[in-house]
Amino acid sequence: MYDGLESPGRNDDCWCGSGKKYKKCHLEFDRKLQALYDSGEEILGRDLLKTAEDIEGIKASAKVNIGSLDYVAEHIKEGVTTAEIDKWVYDYCVERGAIPADLDYEGFPKSVCTSINNVVCHGIPSEEDVLKNGDIINVDMSTILDGYYSDSSRMFCIGDVDDEWKRLVEVTHESVKAGLATVKPWIHLGDVSAAVNKVASDAGFSVVAEFGGHGIGLDFHEDPFVSFVAQAGTGPILVPGMCFTIEPMVNLGGSAIDMNDPNGWTVRTADGSPSAQWEVQLVVTETGYELLSW
Ligand code: MF3
Ligand code: CO
Repeated sequence: MYDGLESPGRNDDCWCGSGKKYKKCHLEFDRKLQALYDSGEEILGRDLLKTAEDIEGIKASAKVNIGSLDYVAEHIKEGVTTAEIDKWVYDYCVERGAIPADLDYEGFPKSVCTSINNVVCHGIPSEEDVLKNGDIINVDMSTILDGYYSDSSRMFCIGDVDDEWKRLVEVTHESVKAGLATVKPWIHLGDVSAAVNKVASDAGFSVVAEFGGHGIGLDFHEDPFVSFVAQAGTGPILVPGMCFTIEPMVNLGGSAIDMNDPNGWTVRTADGSPSAQWEVQLVVTETGYELLSW
């Protein structure tokens, strides 16, 4: 078949775990995807599609992830250090039997990414970073519960933030909502990318090309890579059961980034301008999408 995996016989159990016969379950679905594949479309493997049981597991993980960000939202203010935020989310997670997915991920030393002002992503929490009036900060949290992954991030404005910076934060949030609104089966992933990019670009901002969203669920970063500079009509076809994030990084100035921090993680804008990011996690459904983490 289109993904190199065998398909069951018509009267055998479907590959999706529904317990239904293949002919009554995903047979038509597979025929449709095979035809799209034969016409040259990019089709992702069925092994990425989440079962109903997977979705329940991801939702339980996301409940902790969302709760930890809600906790941050209630307590973040001028004078707080990013090391304190790290402790808040670590405690919140482990008290609920979960593990912060960032901790020790490829050597990342903390439980959450805290990216202030010109930091694009992967800021490392530190005692030295004290939030001050006028800062904007992205808090990007990811959780593992019973082997299921969730991932979302939010922006916070500290005190009186410059109007143009506030507009950057708001437009970036709108761009994510515009991307979400396009999500439904049988479109191209690039249609989502283009919807996100248009909102940011029309507002005069620039979108980072080097980073994007990702599939997620049974692992932290699964296929597909979700670019926010891809064209409509390109990339893989979306089908029910695909689970991925929308998480554009949008800069007030140019799109170029600086990845030379000696800590190996912190990414900054090349021109020093501020950068914003919001992240949501979703699953594609029969009719559109369901939001899983925010
Ligand atoms: N949470 C980030 C994402 O959205 C990944 C951070 S990886 C880390 O995909 F190691 F920096 F924590
Ligand atoms: Co992510």
